[in-house]
Amino acid sequence: MKRTHHCNELRSEHIGQKVTLCGWVHSRRDFGGLLFLDIRDREGRTQTVFDPNELDKEVVEHAAALHAETVVAVSGSVRARPEGTSNPKIDTGEVEVVTERLEVLNHADVLPFPVDDPEVAAKVNEELRLQHRYLDLRRPDMARNLRLRSRIATATRQYVDEEGFLELETPTLFKSTPEGAREFVVPSRLRPGEFYALPQSPQQFKQILMVAGVDKYFQLARCYRDEDLRADRQPEFTQIDLEMSFIEREDIYRVVEGLMQRLWKTALDYELPERFPRLSYVEAMNRYGTDKPDTRYGMELIDFSETFQSTEFKVFRSALDSDGVIKALNAKGLADVTQGQMETMTEYAKSFGAKGLAYIKVEGGEWKSPIVKFFNQEEKEALTEKLGIEEGDLILFAADQWQNACEILGRIRLYCAEVLSSQGKLQIPENVFHFLWVEDFPLLSFDREAGRWYSSHHPFTAPVAEDIPLLKSDPKRVRGQHYDIVVNGVELGGGSIRIHQREVQKTVFEDILQLSPEVAEARFGYMLEAFRYGCPPHGGIAIGFDRLVALLCGTHSIRDVIAFPKTAKGTDMMTQAPAAVDPKQLRELHLEVKAAKKKRANE
Ligand code: AMO
Ligand code: AMP
Repeated sequence: MKRTHHCNELRSEHIGQKVTLCGWVHSRRDFGGLLFLDIRDREGRTQTVFDPNELDKEVVEHAAALHAETVVAVSGSVRARPEGTSNPKIDTGEVEVVTERLEVLNHADVLPFPVDDPEVAAKVNEELRLQHRYLDLRRPDMARNLRLRSRIATATRQYVDEEGFLELETPTLFKSTPEGAREFVVPSRLRPGEFYALPQSPQQFKQILMVAGVDKYFQLARCYRDEDLRADRQPEFTQIDLEMSFIEREDIYRVVEGLMQRLWKTALDYELPERFPRLSYVEAMNRYGTDKPDTRYGMELIDFSETFQSTEFKVFRSALDSDGVIKALNAKGLADVTQGQMETMTEYAKSFGAKGLAYIKVEGGEWKSPIVKFFNQEEKEALTEKLGIEEGDLILFAADQWQNACEILGRIRLYCAEVLSSQGKLQIPENVFHFLWVEDFPLLSFDREAGRWYSSHHPFTAPVAEDIPLLKSDPKRVRGQHYDIVVNGVELGGGSIRIHQREVQKTVFEDILQLSPEVAEARFGYMLEAFRYGCPPHGGIAIGFDRLVALLCGTHSIRDVIAFPKTAKGTDMMTQAPAAVDPKQLRELHLEVKAAKKKRANE
């Protein structure tokens, strides 16, 4: 019984044809002897009918006893469903297959969880789903996500090919370069005591490909980072990785905007604007309190440092006296927060470093707040005007150093938006995509604990040309030629124009990042060496492919668009990786495991 059609193919025009479908028994309905089995495959499902008037009784009984998810082949003829029984919810809903032959290709045991009911499945514990990922992936939602992922990968390849990129693979057994996130290391058998590291990204190889004259490089690159995991982070993930020579930032923007337009059109038939708006890092922080703003709604942060220049309120006074700022936002309609909710919000702000969360509730025509008594008429008028204060509003303040004040209120803005939207007081449009570029990031950030500068992005990002003279004298003012692409509050990708002059790269390694010439040589010598022999000006970007697919699939978790993701603890629930290895393997690798020994001693 050879398959003639997939399970989402039959339509009215097939009526009368003899067909064979192969797939899984999705669901079963028994109407007093007349039996309906929905057969499902990757593409969809089709109703088959087992009619005791047409078939041997044993065949019908056999079919009626099949477990869900039994693998079958069904042959029969296609007919229109009787008047009033078509199912507009599925693509094959106009027709059914009248079974003439049934073959069981394989049995299925009773399932650990059902795959046919999306509501039940959504409530199944995620660990159980991950443990039986092959069943989870049969669920129509997940199958759709994988199909869309594949289509997006194909559309990406087509687009970059049209744009003249070469698709090249770079090694995944790389060298440890401990500048970025924590790495996964791999011991070498042939070189005792030495290790490879899995790449956090192909950054260095793609730059060296530019030195090699490749000109335009592309890869759907697998990257590895040993970070704490969240819904939008996995230890291994995929990037759309690009690098181009003889270009400026604008060229990268155009290529990426074109790619996004193509992908949104392909996946959702959604038209993105020709060009994406841009925000400087400083403006993004000032207005939204984050470098990845969700601009689908306002609730912007407003600076009141000027207004409170001569304030008597000690919290504001001490912030201003130590060169800090006063910022506020208006959570419209949230004045009805209870004291308990206000305390929760304050604790939340404190978890991000806030010293407190001053507020004003506007209720019954009154400003209810422990701090209004410190405000004079002029200050109140400025607040009313700039924040558009009305009955029902909740005003929240942060008084702190600029960066802290922005970040704290940025978090509070997201928190309030979530509460307000759950109460129906704020509409955050679901099916729109607000793309933007965030640019002009500071090249360097200062690590107070370590007492040194580190790269905000990575050490290969070029400083803005006019800021190069400040590199040694005033590093914090140096802007980097780094850009992020952001959509609806998600950091989708980031890249930069790179340093291509050996001397500038050496200055960054040695004078700024304080690597000794020996360490710089040991870690990045091959790059500095390559830069001697005609390195073209170049730049690039990497787009988080899993995040992109999640957005297009309308899910918040990248685990929903990765075939075999890991849990928050980095475990593969199905294979139980990571796991101990055989002592013989360890000996071959010249390794001894202390942690395991300790555990054994305790046992
Ligand atoms: P960056 O580190 O900003 O840049 O990464 C680029 C994009 O990759 C995605 N991403 C992740 N996705 C899932 N899980 C993770 N753990 C994870 N970490 C990052 C994000 C992010 O925006 N080599 C540079 C790019 C360049 O300069 O060209 C780089 O890797 O969507
Ligand atoms: P206090 O006088 O310390 O009780 O603070 C008065 C109000 O200001 C309280 O609601 C605090 O939560 C709030 N507050 C304290 N420090 C800050 C700060 N740095 N920024 C904003 N609000 C603050």
